[in-house]
Order: sequence, then C-alpha cells, then structure tokens
Amino acid sequence: MTPEHPGTTTDDPALAPPPGCPAHDRGPGGLTRLYGPGAENLGDLYEELREEHGAVAPVLLHDDVPMWIVLGHAENLHMVRTPTEYCRDSRIWTPLREGRIKPDHPLMPHIAWEPICSYAEGEEHQRLRGAVMRAMSTIDHRSLRRYINRYTQRLVNRFCEKGHADLVSQFSDHLPMAVMCEILGLPEEYNDRMVQAARDMLKGTETAIASHAYVMEKLGELTARRRKELDEDFASQLISHPAGLTDDEVTKHLWLVLMAAYEATANLLANALRMVITDDRFYARLNGGQMTVMEAVEQSLWDEPPFSTVFAYYAKQDTELGGKRIRRGDGLLFAPAAGNIDPRVRPDLSANMKGNRSHLAFGGGPHECPGQDIGRAIAEVGVDALLMRLPDVQLDCEEEELGYRESISSRHLIELPVRFDPKPQQDVMAAPSHGSVAPPRPPWQVSDIMADSSPAGPLPDPEPERPVEPRLPVVPAPVAEPERPLGAWRRFLRWWRGY
Ligand code: HEM
Repeated sequence: MTPEHPGTTTDDPALAPPPGCPAHDRGPGGLTRLYGPGAENLGDLYEELREEHGAVAPVLLHDDVPMWIVLGHAENLHMVRTPTEYCRDSRIWTPLREGRIKPDHPLMPHIAWEPICSYAEGEEHQRLRGAVMRAMSTIDHRSLRRYINRYTQRLVNRFCEKGHADLVSQFSDHLPMAVMCEILGLPEEYNDRMVQAARDMLKGTETAIASHAYVMEKLGELTARRRKELDEDFASQLISHPAGLTDDEVTKHLWLVLMAAYEATANLLANALRMVITDDRFYARLNGGQMTVMEAVEQSLWDEPPFSTVFAYYAKQDTELGGKRIRRGDGLLFAPAAGNIDPRVRPDLSANMKGNRSHLAFGGGPHECPGQDIGRAIAEVGVDALLMRLPDVQLDCEEEELGYRESISSRHLIELPVRFDPKPQQDVMAAPSHGSVAPPRPPWQVSDIMADSSPAGPLPDPEPERPVEPRLPVVPAPVAEPERPLGAWRRFLRWWRGY
C-alpha cells in the first residue's frame, strides 16, 4: 500500500525511538525534524531523507507540525505544474484548519495567507500576476544594466582604496536593494537603513516587526504619491493596470516584489561572487577562459538555488506523489536545493551544467518567478562590473572558514572577505574599468566628465544621476586608446552592459 504521512495519521508517542537510539533526535513517529538539534545542515539531512524515503519524504516542522518535503526533480516539477492538484493557498492546510499552528509559529510569515499573487489561484492569480507581469514588461533592460553598473561603481568606490572588503555586507547585500528601489520608484529611499531593515526581517530578529513596519510605510507612501500623480516606474504601472488593484494590493505587491527580488538576488550575487573568486574553472578564464560570468551564475543556480525551499504547496485532493499517498489538505515543501541535485538528473555533481537551464531555482508552472531575467541581470552585470574594477580580487581567508546562515528557506553567506591592491575611485557614470588611471583632474573638470565619459558618447538617461555618497574626489575612468572600429561581438557587449 502507498504510505501516507505518519504524522497526519497518528500522534502515538510509543512510535518515538527509545532513548539512546541514533534516531532519538527524531520526533513522534520517528520522523525527521527540520529544526533543532540534528538539523544544522539541512542539505545533508535532505540526502539522508532521500536515502530513507525516496523522492518525497515525511518530515516535521517546528512544534512537530507534519509536512512533506519533495526531493525529486520530476516530482517538484509535477507539483508546481499541476494546479488542479496543488495550490499555494495555506487556508486549506489541515494543521492550520485544525488550529495546530500557534500564532507565534516561527514560520508564520510564510504561512499566513495574504491577498497577493503568490498565494492566489485561478482567475484571481491571473488578475494580480497580470498586473505584476505588465509592470515588469515595461522595465527597459538597457537602463537596468546601466543602473547596475552605476550602483556597482558607487559601492566599490566606498572600499576600493582600502585594499580589502567584505563583499557580502559591502556589496551583495546592497546592490539588489539599490537596483530594486530604483525600479520600483523609490530611489531616494535606498540607503543603509533600508538594507538593514530587509536583512532584519529575513533574519527574524527581535526588531523584525519594526523593520517590516518601516519598509511597509515607505511602500505605502510611494503608493499614495503615485495614486495622486503617476510616473514611469513599477509602482505607477501597477496602479494604472486595468485590473484595478486597490492601494492595499499595490503596496503588498510592491512588498512582494521587493522582498522576493532582494533576498534571492542577494544570495545569488554572493554565491556567484564566491564561485568566481574561488573556483579554478572560473579563475582560468583570464588565461584562456573555461567559464564565463553568465555560466558561473547559472551553475550557482543549480548548486545553490537562492531559495532552497519554498513554503509551501497544499494538496487540493487526495493524490499520489513519488510513491507516497498525499491527503487532501497536506502541506508540501517545494525544494529546489534538493531537486537540483537529484541523482536521477545529476548523477555526477561535479559535472559542469553549461547550457542547461532546467534547474528549479525559479520554480515552474503558474507561479514561476516572473523576475528571473532581472535577478540574472543583477548578478551577471554586478559580478562582471566588480571584476572590471578589482581584477586581482582574492579570498582573504581559507575557503573552509566561510560561514552560512541557514534557514528552511535559504542559505545566506555570512561574509566574503577579500583583498586586492588598493584602487582609486571612479566616476559612477563611467564604464567600470581597471586600466591605468589618468591623474586626477581639478574639480572643475570633473563635472564635465561626470556628464558621460563612456567612449560610446552620452546615453539617454531616464533619471538624473545622483552624486556618490559621501562626496569624494572622483577620478575619471582611464582614457581609452584611439579605438579600432567595434566588431559585432564588442558592439553586442557594449549594448548588453549598457555602456
Ligand atoms: C535570482 C533571483 C531570483 C530567484 C532565484 C527567484 C526565485 C523565485 C521562486 C522560487 C519563486 C516561487 C515560485 C513558486 O511559488 O513556485 C518566485 C516567485 C516570485 N518572484 Fe522570484 N526569484 C528571483 C528574483 C526575482 C526578482 C528580481 C523579482 C522581481 C523583480 C521576483 C519576483 C517574484 C514574484 C512577484 C514571485 C511570485 C510569482 C507568483 O506567485 O505568481 N523574483 N521567485
């Protein structure tokens, strides 16, 4: 008979292993807990579960709440692509309906239903997602790459003269927030406080509620401003969409987009940076090149998907998945981290996944991530631009010393200490570069160069550029040698990078 979730059928304490048993850290029914002692390394735990149960395993969340985790690549895809059997509406989850989830459950921010497209289904999902998709379609990708380059210049200017930096707290935690604030229509609100608030919420620290209130306040103010007067940003597009979103829906979708984009892209950027700095396949690029930045980002999406699991999908009817009997109202964790290393799709984990984009990092089916091109662009252009500024960047510790903050939904690199030869500041308007630097000019000349010093000439700019903060003497980018006519590839690169 196909097994069902033991935790949904019995709470019999007699099924717990006796003291002294190696499985004693397990919960009722001998089930594996995804929290507490024994769950420090969730990646290892998922492999033990795969060994024991196959593609779909019964587990326990905090307070021993029963859940399934989907470990197989095909099974994860089937779940997210079959909306007739599975949905993202937690209101049908049996433990919630039976009152077994305490209001202070640590996963409550993921569990509580909200009127946003992530949790909606059918026509309502189409209405809300339609507005988000239309707003995304209006983002000009060339301007996007230009923003990414300029914010990279600003961030690198803050530490380039020191010769050392932590690329997590000084770069990857900032760049996605700066770019997303620009896209949404909040360029003035991007600052250290905003980054700290977002990190605080994600860490679930004691100040998380205040941080959440701060971010919501800023997004609510933006909604009110744009309701009065539309502009050309994402917020204005949401407001003017024929779906007629209410102010509350607009603010909540701005929050969804900001947080989904920020957390995932910050993780991807940090992981991709770590890979290009430490991986021999990438380092060899300078002498012949085996892996490009684009490939490193894609490899990272396979090996370390920014969301290791997504909480959660729920069964709309009795069904079967990976040989397990799933009851109506059961909850299932969508698990890109485990699905991406399913031995049935990746028998050799060291094999390069070049050209293969069938990983689960962006989900699939009706809820597939609509922002994946933006996430990829921030990571690819950001890494590329940083390497242009600091080509000699090296890890400043042993690789084994790098630590991660792990939660059920993601694995965040805590620090990425690096060293490099000190470099001068550069003009944020110029293309990132590491060539020989022209001697500093007197300030009266600098402002002329700030207007645009890219060899391609001035580009139309949707927003006036703000100065580097704090205002520091700006060194112009190196003056290029007289150029040969550009080949098709260099013209494409110039278009792609936005300078
Ligand atoms: C590398 C970066 C990113 C990764 C790995 C990622 C991954 C994901 C995943 C796994 C989902 C859930 C899919 C599901 O429920 O089955 C999702 C949903 C979503 N993501 Fe992303 N994301 C990234 C960047 C972004 C960006 C940059 C944006 C916005 C500009 C964005 C906006 C969204 C939205 C709005 C949803 C909800 C879609 C829906 O439920 O219909 N994401 N993302």
